[in-house]
Amino acid sequence: MAGRIPQAFLDEIVARADIVEIIGARVPLKKSGREFKANCPFHNEKSPSFWVSPEKQFYHCFGCGAHGTVIGFLMQYEKMDFIDAVADLAQRAGLELPKEAQGPRDAGSVDLHDVTAKAARFFEQNLADNPRARAYLETRGIDAKTRANFALGYAPDSWDALLTRFGTQDDERRRLFQVGLIIERDTRGGERAAGFYDRFRDRLMFPIRDSRGRVIAFGGRVIDKGEPKYLNSPETPLFHKGRELYGLYEARQAHTDFKRLMIVEGYMDVVRLHQAGITYAVATLGTATTQEHLNKIFRITSELVFCFDGDRAGRQAAWRALDNALPLARDGRELKFLFLPEGHDPDTLVALEGREAFEARLKSALPLSEYLVQQLKLDLDLDSVDGRAKLKALAAPLFARMPDGIYRELLADRLAAEIRMPAVKLKEYLFAGDPKRPAPAPAEPGTPRRSRNSAGRGNLLSQAITLVLHHPAAARSVTDIEALGSVDRPGVSVLKELLEQAAGMAQPSTGMLLERWRERAEYARLTELAMSDPMVADAVGTAKELQMAVQKLLEEYGPGRRTDDLLRKAEELGLNYDEKAELTLLLKAKGRPRAPS
Ligand code: GTP
Ligand code: MN
Repeated sequence: MAGRIPQAFLDEIVARADIVEIIGARVPLKKSGREFKANCPFHNEKSPSFWVSPEKQFYHCFGCGAHGTVIGFLMQYEKMDFIDAVADLAQRAGLELPKEAQGPRDAGSVDLHDVTAKAARFFEQNLADNPRARAYLETRGIDAKTRANFALGYAPDSWDALLTRFGTQDDERRRLFQVGLIIERDTRGGERAAGFYDRFRDRLMFPIRDSRGRVIAFGGRVIDKGEPKYLNSPETPLFHKGRELYGLYEARQAHTDFKRLMIVEGYMDVVRLHQAGITYAVATLGTATTQEHLNKIFRITSELVFCFDGDRAGRQAAWRALDNALPLARDGRELKFLFLPEGHDPDTLVALEGREAFEARLKSALPLSEYLVQQLKLDLDLDSVDGRAKLKALAAPLFARMPDGIYRELLADRLAAEIRMPAVKLKEYLFAGDPKRPAPAPAEPGTPRRSRNSAGRGNLLSQAITLVLHHPAAARSVTDIEALGSVDRPGVSVLKELLEQAAGMAQPSTGMLLERWRERAEYARLTELAMSDPMVADAVGTAKELQMAVQKLLEEYGPGRRTDDLLRKAEELGLNYDEKAELTLLLKAKGRPRAPS
């Protein structure tokens, strides 16, 4: 995959990206010497063991072992795939993604997108042709323009309408199955496989589109009454529901810049709100809002309103949303909660009162802090010491999930006022879990620890590789890179290639170098070495050590070099015991006759 993106382009991306900026936008980083640290976003911890090195363009957690380059971070944190991460960084850097990069990811999925696109058009056509389905949409107040905008459709009342239309060939059926549009018949009970049938039958179809507008899945609603009311596509190679937001593509089509996004609960709510001109509404697909959703949203706008139906289920969903949103709550982001009157959802309400009245409600949306305190206070008697203690206990786990920063401070102040306790004392209690002490074990990067390194001082090769990885710029001062080509030892070719790559880069960094190896078998081992302690702190020292290591490798394993020297010496001066043993080994390795005694 990476192979299709020109190497120079990847170098450029990694070189232009500022890993501190990219990670810092998602994780609150604190400067510590030449590096930055934070509580690791990939595991739960109370004191920071997550380090980001601007110099190396590399991050590493000593706690859970997470590590990688800026590309790796986006993949791990945002769950992007490689191409998406590269595309994201390219866009930031103002670079156009090369053609080679636009295709490859689709190599396997282009056919699948083709299938969903065809199905969507098929459903659309069927809606146009089906008076009953159209009548139903009309009773729901959806006009033709909105219908077209969301590409709404209708799946015919048939077990195989889609199957007979698009699934006559084996490979066509396989693709229909892969995108979840057909279901394999149950073959339990010893019956022979009886084939497939359409998943969506007699349903109003809502195509779900990705950020590029490609149909990746469907939601289907029964016409009028029936069970289940909604049916969604299963998880497929194209569709991960914890990641997608219904209506986001349409919202982005309607806006170049968002003041805010609003999350509502249902498909119909999104469609109806857009029709009313509230085009910043999106919905999760019958799931709670995930952090992935939230990250996606906060890349687009800094204000998010959760809009919930005024019933019990809505309130429960709201609390769950708050819980998921806490780790992302921080200064500069506005998270609000809007509760609709009992018995209404956005669809019915906007139909009833129109856009302006609906939007006026946004003014009364509760900020996250307000909602949180209000919920915590529920059923507590804050006039009693006991009640205040309970509030404190309830709040503690929530605070533990929030990133530290002004936002959390302010929230703690607010809570302190509420429970009539000095803010300083409350914070002592709430933040007890994360003292601003440096990480205990293991040691901070750059400080010498233990004996010699984990790569094994004895292993010259690992050591040389570690040095290049840590200070790639030093590669340029190594003189005999070419000669390494004749050293016949496993791994030396890796060193040679690394040296050549690093020497060829204008401003090499650890991250850039590692990206060259992402898809190769050595990648895991190389990242390991990139994290191990190099023991040489600066570039100058590294250049010297590296040169020495290469020299030694050449001496010891070079093409007969050492052998020739020893043979000559044996003739001229005679060898000592160690030299004899060495020569014997060298000759044995080459299959030459025994050394002269
Ligand atoms: P209408 O009844 O058409 O107005 O739909 P709604 O969007 O108001 O539905 P509701 O509030 O009942 O549900 C909200 C969302 O939850 C829906 O849009 C679906 O995503 C999901 N949902 C509701 N019912 C079901 C169901 O039976 N199965 C599944 N998988 N999801 C459902
Ligand atoms: Mn509804």
